[in-house]
Amino acid sequence: MTSPLLELNHVSRTFMVKKQQIKAVDDVSFSLGTGEVLCLVGESGCGKTTTGKIIAGLLSPSSGKIFFKGNDISTLSKDQHNAYRLGVQMIHQDPYASLNPTQTIFEILATPLRYHKLVKTDKECRDRVLSLLELVDLTPPDDFVEKYPHQLSGGQRQRVSIARSLTVNPSFLVADEAVSMVDVSIRISLLRTLSHLKDELGLSVLFITHDLALAKYFAWDGRIGVMYLGRMVELSPAPFLVDHPQHPYTQVLLSAIPEADPDITRKKQSLQLRSMDVPSLLRLPSGCSFHPRCPRFAGQLCQEQIPSLTSFYDGSAVACHLVMDDRKKDVIKA
Ligand SMILES: Nc1ncnc2c1ncn2[C@@H]1O[C@H](COP(=O)(O)OP(=O)(O)OP(=O)(O)O)[C@@H](O)[C@H]1O
Ligand SMILES: [Mg+2]
Repeated sequence: MTSPLLELNHVSRTFMVKKQQIKAVDDVSFSLGTGEVLCLVGESGCGKTTTGKIIAGLLSPSSGKIFFKGNDISTLSKDQHNAYRLGVQMIHQDPYASLNPTQTIFEILATPLRYHKLVKTDKECRDRVLSLLELVDLTPPDDFVEKYPHQLSGGQRQRVSIARSLTVNPSFLVADEAVSMVDVSIRISLLRTLSHLKDELGLSVLFITHDLALAKYFAWDGRIGVMYLGRMVELSPAPFLVDHPQHPYTQVLLSAIPEADPDITRKKQSLQLRSMDVPSLLRLPSGCSFHPRCPRFAGQLCQEQIPSLTSFYDGSAVACHLVMDDRKKDVIKA
């Protein structure tokens, strides 16, 4: 069997906050193959960006291992590490902050091409810049090359950010709330562009969003991972997760998505949280950290033991004592 493009093995990341250690990412494991999409969803502060940054090599894990193309990234040589950093590119939420306002779009795209010696001549550089702009649907590209970021709309700026991440021919994109800043009307067309790029270039994508409705749209052929207070609580193929959510937290998130069809909305079971307060990472609840809010809270076991993410034969994986108990026969034993 060939190894996955990327594998996270029990990865955690702590930060010091108010002289106390918090676990922003806690014991997260998953792998992603070439051309695969994984959407990370969850409330603000659950560790999505931290996970993305660790994958992109912008933060190191406090514990656990990351494998890229089968190699443990902590043991890579300098050249191999550079290749890994170029191979995984991150698109940030705010394109305005991440694009240099004093450079034209041509310079923004030409700089990494020249720096990494990916083009030999000026002609080759210009051709590559134009083809990158076409690739992200900024057409005709000649209309954009001499412009500055402030002369473009938010959606166009985000397309330039995407084009810049593609200059170094990555195999993996981490898109962190990449469409959240743009108007709803442009969001879908940006998502379509990202989706085409994925298919055309065979890219793997970690798509980070707090919006489960967006995850549903973008990752329908892939998987969705739901995070809660630093831990992965459910990780399943997207259609399965949407149609058969198993973790009570996923069920709550899904029940909160408004449906276009009022009939579906009426039929939808509205799940009540026991508490609306999201606990702080500084005072993490014992056992399952969702237990103080969980509509299925079942006492001592939930309060005392942290449930581990358990994989089932149907391809889903859930971290909940009750689900594990209900589905004992379906558990894939490690
Ligand atoms: N550099 C840092 N120093 C201290 N704490 C940090 C740092 N980066 C992140 N955190 C904390 O780690 C936790 C997870 O943050 P992260 O940004 O990964 O969450 P997120 O899921 O991306 O949230 P959002 O949806 O708001 O973007 C938060 O409590 C955050 O305050
Ligand atoms: Mg974030």
